[in-house]
Amino acid sequence: MSKFGRSLFGVSLLLTVLLAAATTSAEYYNYGSALDKTFLFFEAQRSGKLPATQRVKWRGNSGLKDGLAQGVSLEGGYYDAGDNVKFGLPMAFLVTMLSWAAVDNRKELSGLNQMQQTLWSIRWGTDYFIKAHPQPNVLWGQVGDGQSDHYCWERPEDMTTSRTAYKLDQYHPGSDLAGETAAAFAAASLAFKPYNSSYSAILLTHAKELFSFADKYRGLFTDSIPNAKAFYMSSGYSDELLWAAAWLHRATGDQYYLKYAIDNAGYMGGTGWGMKECNHFYFLQADYILGKNRQGMSYLVGYGPKYPLRVHHRGASIPSIFVQRSSVSCVQGFDSWYRRSQADPNVIHGALVGGPDQNDNYSDDRANYEQSEPTLSGTAPLVGLFAKLSGKLGSYGGGYSKPYQTTKPPASSYKATPTRYTPKQSGAPIEFLHSITANWMAGDTRYYRHKVIIKNNSQKQISDLKLKIEDLSGPIWGLNPTGQKTTYQLPEWQKTLRAGQTHDFVYVQGGPQAKVSVLSYY
Ligand SMILES: *[C@@H]1O[C@H](CO)[C@@H](O)[C@H](O)[C@H]1NC(C)=O
Ligand SMILES: *[C@@H]1O[C@H](CO)[C@@H](O)[C@H](O)[C@H]1NC(C)=O
Ligand SMILES: *[C@@H]1O[C@H](CO)[C@@H](O)[C@H](O)[C@H]1NC(C)=O
Repeated sequence: MSKFGRSLFGVSLLLTVLLAAATTSAEYYNYGSALDKTFLFFEAQRSGKLPATQRVKWRGNSGLKDGLAQGVSLEGGYYDAGDNVKFGLPMAFLVTMLSWAAVDNRKELSGLNQMQQTLWSIRWGTDYFIKAHPQPNVLWGQVGDGQSDHYCWERPEDMTTSRTAYKLDQYHPGSDLAGETAAAFAAASLAFKPYNSSYSAILLTHAKELFSFADKYRGLFTDSIPNAKAFYMSSGYSDELLWAAAWLHRATGDQYYLKYAIDNAGYMGGTGWGMKECNHFYFLQADYILGKNRQGMSYLVGYGPKYPLRVHHRGASIPSIFVQRSSVSCVQGFDSWYRRSQADPNVIHGALVGGPDQNDNYSDDRANYEQSEPTLSGTAPLVGLFAKLSGKLGSYGGGYSKPYQTTKPPASSYKATPTRYTPKQSGAPIEFLHSITANWMAGDTRYYRHKVIIKNNSQKQISDLKLKIEDLSGPIWGLNPTGQKTTYQLPEWQKTLRAGQTHDFVYVQGGPQAKVSVLSYY
């Protein structure tokens, strides 16, 4: 049952689903309803004492003694996936993504009457993180033993497996996990600012302390919490530190964090737009996820007429504690419920499963956890996505006003066809290297992912570079708009280009490529 190679940002999904048949003509689906369902998934993942407002009624209280053996209360928070472990890293990612949506899609979420729900979902994570961060240099990073948890198939309400808690401190550092949690606190502080300034201030204090801890005591959290290794392999902590600094700068306006990001962006090699790019593919894929695919099936559980019925999820696959009150033991869970071919007794609304394979096949089988298990980190980006789409396109009453259309098999669109050309600007002080790094069909249109490398060929430092980009019809990452039409500039952390330094940006669109030229620089 172990999930080796589980990817934090749903990378496997990105490769199999997201680069497959894509669409931008979003017109058949009710994104408001999809959004509401994703909040139900987060409710189903709740650990601790559930509030009276809990809508997912098949779940009960659980994990009430988490942390007690270590003398700390770690009640609350979210279970990670189909298992009952509370992993800090994906939980922090979830809180950051929810907060990001609350900050950047405030209008849409308020319009859909979902802002309170968003804040509650954030708070279920941050209230737990506050408990997990009792001292400036201590962060409890995990509750539950991933190995023993996977030997059992039990509802969270009657867990018998170890609830060991694992912590980071100055002798056991984890800059990646502490950095990601600092980012979550800072983003949540921004999200709460207009609604509860005292809570916002508390969150910001935690964010600053955790950032100092992450920065001062450097290390990988998986070296300090080896139990997490099989589930969340960390390859470095620079992205998380930059990510935290960026959110702290946004939350505080303090130049210290901006300077930190600028000073470290180069050697740390992080740019920060990798994740936004990931979001973009989700954006293209909303309809694909909701049913516009070869299976004619929604991969968001409980949405539309056809969706996964055998989800790799302990709670969903065993009857509710309120229906079957006697406990279901470790092995009995496997024998009686996991191996059954019947549908889950509980529909876990709003869970995004791993999704189909490269051939667009989906096997609706609990044992096939790569395809049938939902995760916090995989579902988290959907909140901002559905909010944006609802705001942009409005909600469609029935959600299925037109029959499904299945797209062409995507197999042929897997191989990127890189085409590299050196434009006229070659030899000029600033050179652009343009390449196509991916392409795919969506309906009748072929979309291209263009990557442009900006290179400084001049003899002096270039700053305040302004670019003119014409014929741009799709989204763009790695450059910031200036406010003037067709004019873009380098992001704040990359104001100057030193010797030998390059800067990449990316855009996606159908049809011919955009025209990129230099407007001005100093
Ligand atoms: C704001 O946050 C505080 C501190 O956590 C909490 O006690 C209070 O109930 C919140 N107020 C509102 C209006 O939600
Ligand atoms: C998966 O899809 C391929 C290609 O469309 C098909 O040939 C194959 O039979 C499918 N496999 C399964 C197990 O359904
Ligand atoms: C540009 O490159 C030249 C030569 O490599 C270098 O001397 C100069 O400092 C660089 N300036 C910028 C802005 O990168």
